[in-house]
Amino acid sequence: MRLLLLPLPGNEKMCGALEGALGHFVPDPPGRETVAFRRFPDGESYVRIKTPIAGRAVAIFCTLDRPDDKVLPLIFLAETARQLGAASVGLIAPYLAYMRQDRRFIDGEGVTSAYFAALLSRAVDWLVTVDPHLHRRTSLSEIYSIPTEVVHAAPRVAEWIRSNVQRPLLIGPDEESGQWVAAVAGAAGAPSVVLQKVRRGDRDVSVTVPDLSRWRDRTPVLVDDIVSTARTMIETVRHLQLENRAAPVCVAVHPVFVAGAYDELRQAGAARIVSCNTIPHPSNAIDLSGELARAVDTRHGAVSGRRPG
Ligand code: R5P
Repeated sequence: MRLLLLPLPGNEKMCGALEGALGHFVPDPPGRETVAFRRFPDGESYVRIKTPIAGRAVAIFCTLDRPDDKVLPLIFLAETARQLGAASVGLIAPYLAYMRQDRRFIDGEGVTSAYFAALLSRAVDWLVTVDPHLHRRTSLSEIYSIPTEVVHAAPRVAEWIRSNVQRPLLIGPDEESGQWVAAVAGAAGAPSVVLQKVRRGDRDVSVTVPDLSRWRDRTPVLVDDIVSTARTMIETVRHLQLENRAAPVCVAVHPVFVAGAYDELRQAGAARIVSCNTIPHPSNAIDLSGELARAVDTRHGAVSGRRPG
C-alpha cells in the first residue's frame, strides 16, 4: 500500500513536490487535509490525524531547521499515529538539525547531536534526510539506532553549476568540506580549492584563502552544506574582493539563514545565492524532490517488505 505522507505546518509545499515525484497524482486522502495542528492559548500543542491510518505505513514530513518549536509536535504526531494503529511511522526531514554539536568542545557541554538522535530514534521507525552534517562522525548509524537513508545533493548541485556558471572554480570553506566539494567539482568538471577556517564563536569566523592566481579567469563558486549566520561565506567573499576576483556565486545545500544573514551575504557582494530546497527559502533553485522520492521509496519498500520501485 502506498505511503501516507503527513506534513507538519510549513512543509506542505515540499511535501507536495515529493508526492509528485513519488508519482502520487491523486491526493491521499482526496481533497482533505490529513493533519490538524494548533496551539492552545497557553502555548501547548494540539495534534489530530484526520484520516484513517490503522494498518497504514505513514511518514511525517518535517524539515528540522529551527527545531525546538517543531520537535514536540513531531513527537506527538508520531505517537498519535502509533496509537491510531499505523503499521509504521517514518520521518522525512530534508534538513536534520543538531548535527554540529558532535563533541564536547568545552568541559561540561552537552553532545546534543547524540541526544537528539536518541530522541528521534525512539519516536519514529526510519529516517530519510539530505546530506546530514557528518564531520567527526562517518555515518548516522553511529548515533541513530533506526534505519536511515541519506540523499546526496552533490550530483544535482554539480548539474546546476554546469548549466549556470561559466568556467567555475569551486571553493569549499574548510577542510571538512574537502571531500564533498571535490565530489561536486568532479561531477561539474571544475577545479576546486579548500580554505582554512577558524571559528572563534557563533559569528566570529576567519578564513585563509590559498593562492588562486592560476584560476584568475574562473568564476568563484562557494559551496557549503549549511549556511547559517553566513559569516563563513561573507568572510570568503571579502577575501576574494581583496584579490579583485569576480563576484562569487554562493551555493548552500541547507539554507538555514538566520535572521538578516541572507541580506548580509547579498550586500557583502555575492553575485548570486542559490540553495537546494531542503528548507523553504527565496534562494531555492536546486530541486531534490526526485532524489528524496527515490530514498523514501527505498526505505518504505524495505519497511513494507515490497521491492523498492
Ligand atoms: C560547518 O562546519 C559547516 O559546514 C558550515 O561551514 C557552517 O555551518 C556555516 O555556518 P555559518 O553560516 O554560521 O558561518
